[in-house]
Amino acid sequence: MAVKIGFVGAGRMAGAMIRGLIAKNVYGPDEIVACAPSKETRDRMTQQTGIRMFEKASDIAGLTDVIVIAVKPKKIASLFTEEGLELGKGHLVVSIAAGVKIKTLKTYVPDARIVRVMPNHCCMVLEGAAGYVMDKNCTDADRETVKKILQAIGLAEEVGEEDLDAVTGVCGSSPAFLYLAAQALIEAGVKHGLDKSQATVLAAQSLVGAGKMILESGMDTEQLIDGVCSPGGTTIEGMKVLREEGFDKILIRCVDATVKRSAEMGKE
Ligand SMILES: NC(=O)c1ccc[n+]([C@@H]2O[C@H](COP(=O)([O-])OP(=O)(O)OC[C@H]3O[C@@H](n4cnc5c(N)ncnc54)[C@H](OP(=O)(O)O)[C@@H]3O)[C@@H](O)[C@H]2O)c1
Repeated sequence: MAVKIGFVGAGRMAGAMIRGLIAKNVYGPDEIVACAPSKETRDRMTQQTGIRMFEKASDIAGLTDVIVIAVKPKKIASLFTEEGLELGKGHLVVSIAAGVKIKTLKTYVPDARIVRVMPNHCCMVLEGAAGYVMDKNCTDADRETVKKILQAIGLAEEVGEEDLDAVTGVCGSSPAFLYLAAQALIEAGVKHGLDKSQATVLAAQSLVGAGKMILESGMDTEQLIDGVCSPGGTTIEGMKVLREEGFDKILIRCVDATVKRSAEMGKE
């Protein structure tokens, strides 16, 4: 069977994407290749997913038209300047490297069609949220290919490159903010007598359920808040504390700081 997609790098993010593509039947293991310098990573990936692994990026460039760049940002330059990776007109290059702009990628692959993706790490459980930017020369077929790949690991929204710093704040970094909220809920649950394990699953499922309610109920967040806050009930007392302490304003400031840092990193 012809190879449909190749991954440069086989770490946490590439592994999650590969597992998603196979689990969602987007591509079979025979249609996916990847490369990594260490034999340990190559053996582990083949054992876990059944895909063919190669040592160098240049080994996979000729096997497929769709190449996902999933190495750390600082490794990208050497792929092209030292390792002889050449990607040309026929390639769709999907970069998930945080902070690496299309303009920079173009210096290495001026003729390829480039897609820049900002995924989040929840793609490891196929519940990721990603923003992606398609370069001007991408085709409608490329757009369909990219959607198919990203939807295998969660939800994806096409945005302009100028919005990727905001995407970084709202979905790239936000899992950490929500983990802190979960940590506080768990601590409070334990303080009031729950086992830590019970408090953990109850808090985690509440985050999952709240997210699904936002996505699936058709209600906006104010309506959802009203739906939980019965007059004279329990939730309204907790909401009073959050409003008094400026919980929402703190989260906005937290995303502001993330967006600012993302913009700075883009210039470094
Ligand atoms: N982790 C996140 O939450 C997250 C979120 C958004 C975006 N990203 C982006 O996703 C990319 C990958 O992140 P990650 O967390 O998956 O990193 P990772 O787990 O460290 O994986 C990096 C992979 O790159 C491989 N590699 C290193 N040098 C290589 C080379 N010259 N040729 C081919 N492969 C090479 C490594 O191989 P060995 O195992 O053999 O060393 C490893 O498999 C990064 O650019 C990051 O900015 C990550």
